[in-house]
Amino acid sequence: MGGQASESKVIDSFELRIEDVDSVDIEQLHALSISVGWPLRAEDLRFLREFGRGYVALDEIGRVTGSAMWFPHGEDFATVGMVITSPRLQANGTGQWLMQHVLADCQGRALRLNSTRAARRLYDSLGFQPVKTVYQCQGVVHLPAEPPTVPEGATVRALDATDLPAVVELDARAFGVARDVLIGKLFPQSVGYGLFRDGALTAFALCRPFGRGHVVGPSVAADDAEAIAVVRPHVLDHGGSFLRLDTHREGGAFAGFLARAGMPVFDTVLTMSLTREGVDAKAAATEGTVTYGLVSQALG
Ligand SMILES: CC(C)(COP(=O)(O)OP(=O)(O)OC[C@H]1O[C@@H](n2cnc3c(N)ncnc32)[C@H](O)[C@@H]1OP(=O)(O)O)[C@@H](O)C(=O)NCCC(=O)NCCS
Repeated sequence: MGGQASESKVIDSFELRIEDVDSVDIEQLHALSISVGWPLRAEDLRFLREFGRGYVALDEIGRVTGSAMWFPHGEDFATVGMVITSPRLQANGTGQWLMQHVLADCQGRALRLNSTRAARRLYDSLGFQPVKTVYQCQGVVHLPAEPPTVPEGATVRALDATDLPAVVELDARAFGVARDVLIGKLFPQSVGYGLFRDGALTAFALCRPFGRGHVVGPSVAADDAEAIAVVRPHVLDHGGSFLRLDTHREGGAFAGFLARAGMPVFDTVLTMSLTREGVDAKAAATEGTVTYGLVSQALG
């Protein structure tokens, strides 16, 4: 060949513009999330977009180079997610720019998000405060060789449409905010198991197709034994397949059960919150009825 082995050329001078996230094809958003190694399916993104709002950054020829979304729960609370900048363009201020648009839309709302390590500095600089670590547990599952245990006086059964109001109420108690619209959308696409005492629902776990397989969430329970009792049937249903559960619960019997079932901790993220003047902070419950499984990192 005989030519120069290496050359250089400046190719980085182009403008980005911000548009509504609804303005692009779902495949473009999917390509963006794949570019940062996320396992979301196009269907998962379609669901997020149906439920949420937000922005994309586009280059001059319409390529999606960034995104940031928010998901309303009631009038004064939202979760934030899908905050992504293409690897080639990171550390140039795009993340900040997109988040400024989200924050402007969300005036009057307390915000909660789950921050990757890469995003921590971005959210710190915007005033978000750390709340708690999320353990992303996942793997190909199998039922541990131990007898099923249902807490005394309780029964576990599959949920049906008549259980939806009780699920919404229990989720709200644990999450700190009513998510009736979200749970109403998730319920028909999920299989659910509930734990009942004297006919009243005290714990539940929903499970739906997501990412590389299925995800268990939301799941709410009063203690590890209840949580195991409602998650166990999903492990049985998905034996030999990929299952994921994102939880704030640290150690203890529940974490032990997940690890023995083939769902060890794969990664961690950090839940962070931003309180706004005049808006209740909407903290999640830390004792009593608590969340054992997140809906997803974007939706909390
Ligand atoms: C997190 C992410 C969206 C940030 O986007 P970005 O366009 O690089 O962000 P910005 O250029 O606006 O930088 C924001 C801040 O992070 C800092 N930062 C950016 N990249 C960094 C890096 N690799 N390491 C440390 N800090 C970094 C910037 O210096 C800036 O700090 P400042 O606000 O104090 O000035 C981007 O890295 C990304 O898409 N990562 C992969 C997906 C992901 O983890 N998303 C977050 C989901 S919660």
